[in-house]
Amino acid sequence: MPHRAPLIALGNPGRNFATAICNPALIPVKFTHPCAEDREPGRGFVDARAALRYIWGIKLLSQPRLPRRVSQFPASIVEPWRLSVAPMLDWTDSICRQVHRRLSRHALLYTEMVTSAALVRGGARHLLRFDPVEHPVALQLGGSDPVELAQAVRMGADEGYSEINLNVGCPSDRVQSGSFGAVLMKSPELVGDCLGAMRAATRAEITVKCRIGVDDQDPEQALPALLDAARGAGVKRVIVHARKAWLQGLSPKENREVPPLDYALVERMLSAYPDLKLCLNGGIATLDQAEDLLSRGFAGVMIGRAAYHQPVDILASADRRIFGQPTTDADPVAVAHDMRPVIAGHLARGGRLIGATRHILGLFAGQPGARAWRRALSEMPNGTMADFDALLDGLTQRRAA
Ligand SMILES: Cc1cc2nc3c(=O)[nH]c(=O)nc-3n(C[C@H](O)[C@H](O)[C@H](O)COP(=O)(O)O)c2cc1C
Repeated sequence: MPHRAPLIALGNPGRNFATAICNPALIPVKFTHPCAEDREPGRGFVDARAALRYIWGIKLLSQPRLPRRVSQFPASIVEPWRLSVAPMLDWTDSICRQVHRRLSRHALLYTEMVTSAALVRGGARHLLRFDPVEHPVALQLGGSDPVELAQAVRMGADEGYSEINLNVGCPSDRVQSGSFGAVLMKSPELVGDCLGAMRAATRAEITVKCRIGVDDQDPEQALPALLDAARGAGVKRVIVHARKAWLQGLSPKENREVPPLDYALVERMLSAYPDLKLCLNGGIATLDQAEDLLSRGFAGVMIGRAAYHQPVDILASADRRIFGQPTTDADPVAVAHDMRPVIAGHLARGGRLIGATRHILGLFAGQPGARAWRRALSEMPNGTMADFDALLDGLTQRRAA
């Protein structure tokens, strides 16, 4: 064991010490010295207690061994991917995910896409921050360089994400010019290489979210080619946005609406790939529809826009209806109150009120008072906590009346 200890010294002792105090067992260790990685490929974990004894002479003898950080959150009793909220750039930030988590304990939540370049070359580790309350939460990465993606995966796993997903569906010009996202549908071999490198870098689950094809590709060939590549890399779960992306001439928004959905094609893949968990995405608007799709054999459904705009319709009864838990449905008024400390924290960090409250504009969608709620929040973009509290008081009084 003393031979392994010097590896930890190459990282940041202060950070490693802090992590070890929280979890004095097998912890992920950041190798900051490139030679260390060259010499010890794949050895991303060392025994923290031994390392600490070596470095500081500290004796941590009798603590029970805890699981590694990626699995330190209790394993869910359900399969969270049965219902997930899609990764949505600029929408599914940490505050949004905390709203969604208060509506459903079990639904799987995805981050916005974070590029491997921003993490690895840009040092933007802050993009990985999330609140532990968000678990189960998956990080989505964008990139096409296997080595860089593997490094980004290590950073994500180090932060505690339980799943890391590769984006093979985003059609934006910016993403295309970086040669990742949907354009990767044309390069299934490269996708396989990326996924293989990502898997080799962590024990967290690696998944991929793809389209059924791009441009003039035949989806009957493009989708199986992508699924073969994923399976070949050892990936067990794939999320399919069941429409093509047209890389020329359509905006990202149009690419979520114009190319027709083809659920039947994805459904045919269920029998062709029985060893893959296939999750369906695209155009799912209600929980009834989600239940129907699950009953047809999909391992999961992923919902984007409907979950964002009508979060209560999609998520408040999901624990009961999708995950079979004996719970009562979440109450949106309680959720609004529960979000108070999160919003206060956002304001304390210098954020604008609307930066947080935009994620609860739809909390009462379809219910009496929904429009007044939206208007009240929209009219106070720079409001204070007192303004928000006054709104909450109004909610409570209306309920009592
Ligand atoms: C505002 C917005 C941002 C999005 N950003 C991403 C993203 O970062 N990564 C990704 O894979 N898909 C992204 N998408 C696509 C969604 O994940 C999803 O595939 C798409 O909206 C179709 O699902 P839906 O019909 O349930 O909304 C985004 C969608 C929207 C509306």
